[in-house]
Amino acid sequence: MGKTYKIAVIPGDGTGPEVVNEGRKSLKAAATKFGFKLEMTNFDFGGERYLRTGEILPDSAADDLRKFDAIYLGAIGHPGVKPGILEKGILLRLRFELDQYINLRPVRLFPGVDTPLKNKGPEQINYCVVRENTGGIYTGTGGVSMKGTPHEVAVQSEVYNRHQVERCLRYAFEYARKYGKKAQGKADVNTLALVGKTNVLTYVFDLWERVFHEVGAKDYPDIKREYYHVDATCMYMVKSPEWFDVLVTSNMFGDIITDLGAETQGGMGIAAGGNINPEGVSMFEPIGGSAPKYTGQNIINPLAAICAGAMLLETLGELAAAKAIENAVREITATKITSLSAGKMGYSTSQVGDMVAERV
Ligand code: IPM
Ligand code: MN
Repeated sequence: MGKTYKIAVIPGDGTGPEVVNEGRKSLKAAATKFGFKLEMTNFDFGGERYLRTGEILPDSAADDLRKFDAIYLGAIGHPGVKPGILEKGILLRLRFELDQYINLRPVRLFPGVDTPLKNKGPEQINYCVVRENTGGIYTGTGGVSMKGTPHEVAVQSEVYNRHQVERCLRYAFEYARKYGKKAQGKADVNTLALVGKTNVLTYVFDLWERVFHEVGAKDYPDIKREYYHVDATCMYMVKSPEWFDVLVTSNMFGDIITDLGAETQGGMGIAAGGNINPEGVSMFEPIGGSAPKYTGQNIINPLAAICAGAMLLETLGELAAAKAIENAVREITATKITSLSAGKMGYSTSQVGDMVAERV
């Protein structure tokens, strides 16, 4: 008998519950096929709960979640709650308290999926962004004074220490070694590119750049090192995405460039990510948000959530099961779905979920 994994499920707000529901179908199918068990426990964190109880997240949440092998998240964000409250109070707080210091965001165009990039296909759009996930401007020191006056001052600083930078870079090097283009049989070497702004942020990205080359030269000489400024990276993500293999960058830059990346892979309907603590419990999510206007209509695209489920299994070490889900999604995008947009898939949310699960 195979292993049993304990999965915490946070369906969350808006279309979150619908897409998580479809994701569960594939996870269950994969578990049955590959001989392991998934024991799922629901947590009701999100906007509804906040409006009902006035509590954003119980203080015990992180400790409770730490007892699980992984967390599967739908979406956080509610039209009845002021923007920022739930995002900061649930999503960011969990990332920080669970020390999920990596945000892994593959940018992969699946067969049959439309991209806004002219003359680019799955061969060209196939890279991964390793975003630092618990530091930088997101936690930076700051404050405001003289608020509401013409002299108002607002400060929010990019703060990184060596420890944060080094552990993120090491993860990225390891990832490049294991999953880079050489590892995929598509290049002679695995490449890791640092994305920064060394020409302006001369303290923070000087730190990143020095640690990058120091750690790379010493422990990862087999991995080719490149550097790109973040603005140029945006150009190349559109013009020459085939140049990229694995990219590593700060929290804020990673946030921004992965929305661009998601759009090039067909949009939020397919983009998945993992908030990873390599030594602890990780949390997987479709990166599209709660899409309130599509809620409850059975038209939202569940593929991003399904792909997040595959990433979850990969992190648990169930590689064959993860591949089976990914391949099933590829088959669906190549042969079935007409568009990845909500309401235009040619199938309902639950039909798409069923089709993927059947193929798993
Ligand atoms: C993301 C989101 C979050 C972030 C928001 C909702 C706080 O944009 O996961 O990319 O900025 O990290
Ligand atoms: Mn974002």
